[in-house]
Amino acid sequence: ISTRVGIIVGSLRTESISRRIAHALAERAPGSMEFAWIEIGDLPLYSEDFDDDPPAQWTRFRDEVRSCDGLLFVTPEYNRSIPGALKNATDIGSRPDEDANVFDGKPAAIVSVSPYANGGMAANHALRQNFVYINLRTMAQPEAYIGMAEDVVDEEGRAGSDESDRLLTEFMQAFAEWIALVGQGESGERP
Ligand code: FNR
Repeated sequence: ISTRVGIIVGSLRTESISRRIAHALAERAPGSMEFAWIEIGDLPLYSEDFDDDPPAQWTRFRDEVRSCDGLLFVTPEYNRSIPGALKNATDIGSRPDEDANVFDGKPAAIVSVSPYANGGMAANHALRQNFVYINLRTMAQPEAYIGMAEDVVDEEGRAGSDESDRLLTEFMQAFAEWIALVGQGESGERP
């Protein structure tokens, strides 16, 4: 049975290194995984004013998340936290009320990305904190703080070293196992 995994990239930038890493992860994933790229750049800022008559983009985003068995988040760090666009997306998916939370119970994995040696950890954990409340079942290990990210994967998607290649592959293997362990089986079905 194939597992449908939604990929959400926290950067809106055309040349995003995070998106590059996300592609590299998808390419190294087990064959049982299929991917849906869930875009967040067009989502109007969340406001409760629009709960009764939501923008089409919010509905599109919620439907796409709902259709997935698991979610892979690949994000840069902005000012020691997550980019606003990503926070906006998690707010939209969690509303208009708790019953409607499209994230509820889904397996998730977080990869944080930085061009610097020491970046990414704060964003990773800020996102984990957010996920506790919206009840995403976030994989604990292996953690993935990808520093010096431009050296990890080049513009053509080639890993910069055998070790990078192995770590990216092992991360996706572990995520596949995590989804099998805590996942919901058929898309959208509740346990
Ligand atoms: C950054 N950057 C950054 N990097 C980091 O490691 N820690 C940080 O706190 C920040 N803060 C930050 C704030 C803002 C507003 C910007 C625009 C950038 C640098 C960031 O990691 C770098 O621009 C990445 O290349 C962004 O990721 P993408 O777009 O390449 O995926």
